[in-house]
Amino acid sequence: MAMIGVDFGSSSVKALALSKRSEHYVVDMVSEVSTPKGCVVDHQLQDIEALTNVLQQVRQDFPFRYKQAATAVSGTNVITKIIYVDTDLSGPELEMHIELEAESLIPFPLDEISLDFEILGINDNNPGKHNVLLSATRTESVTSLAGCLEENDFIPQIVDVAAHALARSHDLYLRLADLQDDSKVVAAIDIGTNMTIFSMLHKGESIYSRVQNFGGENYTRIISEHYTLKRDEAEKMKLAQQLPLDYDIDVLAPYITACIQQIRRNVQLFTNSGTLQKIDMITLSGGSALIMELAQEVESELGITTRVANPFAQFDYAEEVEDKERLIANGPRYMVALGLAMRAF
Ligand SMILES: Nc1ncnc2c1ncn2[C@@H]1O[C@H](COP(=O)(O)OP(=O)(O)OP(=O)(O)O)[C@@H](O)[C@H]1O
Ligand SMILES: [Mg+2]
Repeated sequence: MAMIGVDFGSSSVKALALSKRSEHYVVDMVSEVSTPKGCVVDHQLQDIEALTNVLQQVRQDFPFRYKQAATAVSGTNVITKIIYVDTDLSGPELEMHIELEAESLIPFPLDEISLDFEILGINDNNPGKHNVLLSATRTESVTSLAGCLEENDFIPQIVDVAAHALARSHDLYLRLADLQDDSKVVAAIDIGTNMTIFSMLHKGESIYSRVQNFGGENYTRIISEHYTLKRDEAEKMKLAQQLPLDYDIDVLAPYITACIQQIRRNVQLFTNSGTLQKIDMITLSGGSALIMELAQEVESELGITTRVANPFAQFDYAEEVEDKERLIANGPRYMVALGLAMRAF
């Protein structure tokens, strides 16, 4: 099925379509269009009008046969939990059971939420139970994303959870880099513009996730305050790497320290929360993963092997993809879109 993964980011909307030829992944098309300021926060649409232009540009980049789209929600609008359900339940019985469980777990009225669930497999400790990943999302955020896609000539097929999309794409990265190991717990961390998503992976599935309001915008703020620049000038200088010579001590080091603090705290929250008490590896994505020093600093400060998740150099590319090199260089920023595009298989 031709499926476009559409990631509504607060800096840009990123869209990607993928196909598979035997064991090779092929990037069929990719598009990125800047998001007007403030229009998207936490994958929630604040200004649908302003996004129409953006989505029409994306639409034009894709051949006509691409219609189906998968997108994602995140943040405080989503609750995900693993629940344990008898293996002999199926169909409507299973759905009813899940609704009942959800009612007791979720602090919103059920008629305001959309439930989604995925059977992960048999519980290790109790073979009579399935581990079931339950996601509850405010219906309002699902319908506004789906509606916006629909109005712009896409068919919104899937509204996923960003942490799960990241689980899929980071797991693919681990597999292609020969780092996959089912006994290990991996923290997939996406540091975007305004948010950081933590998705803890075990056996390729997200078993825990959390979203923090933190990201590259914090770096921009440090730059703008330190050098007394307007926000947009600071952002431009950051991206063009035109900061004064001593930027690494003055602005980069404090930002890296802040990133490490966020990661340390969330690793602790996870290890205190459940049965799997250790993170064996960290994989980074999102714009801040492009800061060369970050992975190395995280690894040495936390004592956990840290890699930048970027499988894009290992993909094949359709001829129509014009900016292959740019995509490979920016791969970590496309990890949500990639995980969504993978829903095609
Ligand atoms: N080479 C780079 N070095 C440092 N920071 C970068 C680089 N490229 C992009 N960024 C920063 O990364 C952020 C954009 O990353 P990304 O595309 O992952 O965000 P987004 O998905 O649009 O936002 P969010 O996920 O928060 O909604 C911006 O803050 C940008 O300044
Ligand atoms: Mg993002």
